[in-house]
Amino acid sequence: MPLLYTINDCRLIQLDKNSDSRGNLTHIEGKEHVPFDIRRVYYIYDVPAGSQRAGHGHKNLFQVLIALAGSFDVHLDDGKNKRTVLLNRPYEGLLITPQIWRVIDNFSSGAVCLALASDRYDESSYYRDYDQFLEARKAIDPAGGILIK
Ligand code: TYD
Repeated sequence: MPLLYTINDCRLIQLDKNSDSRGNLTHIEGKEHVPFDIRRVYYIYDVPAGSQRAGHGHKNLFQVLIALAGSFDVHLDDGKNKRTVLLNRPYEGLLITPQIWRVIDNFSSGAVCLALASDRYDESSYYRDYDQFLEARKAIDPAGGILIK
């Protein structure tokens, strides 16, 4: 397992879609779909047009984001490389590892962002400042490379 995660460790997770004449149903079951124990669920909604959410990183937290309704962009940044993922399907999750700076924007009207998290809310688990985030990554690997255990 990498000690220092990169944006390449963030990936889309396909969930199932049970469709019939009554509509669709998607389920998420423990470690079958999400590679961590879910200890917290929160959701972001009623986002005013043009607003941006997140704009932070986490030290140890894993998360899966799902566009339960509507769409939004998730910008991932590991201090070296950046990638933007459009989430617009309620049967698709984006796994975000620790040590990734993320910004969420371009929310469509009525968008709902569901987040599954590996730990309870803890303000001390955040990097709220981008420079502090970059410094922390360097401290994990002063050479700026990727350390693999
Ligand atoms: P914040 O993390 O700043 O939102 P964003 O994901 O857009 O960066 O959280 C906004 C507020 O909600 C802040 O006061 C902390 C609080 N909060 C909780 O109490 N529990 C939670 O699980 C989360 C994610 C936030």
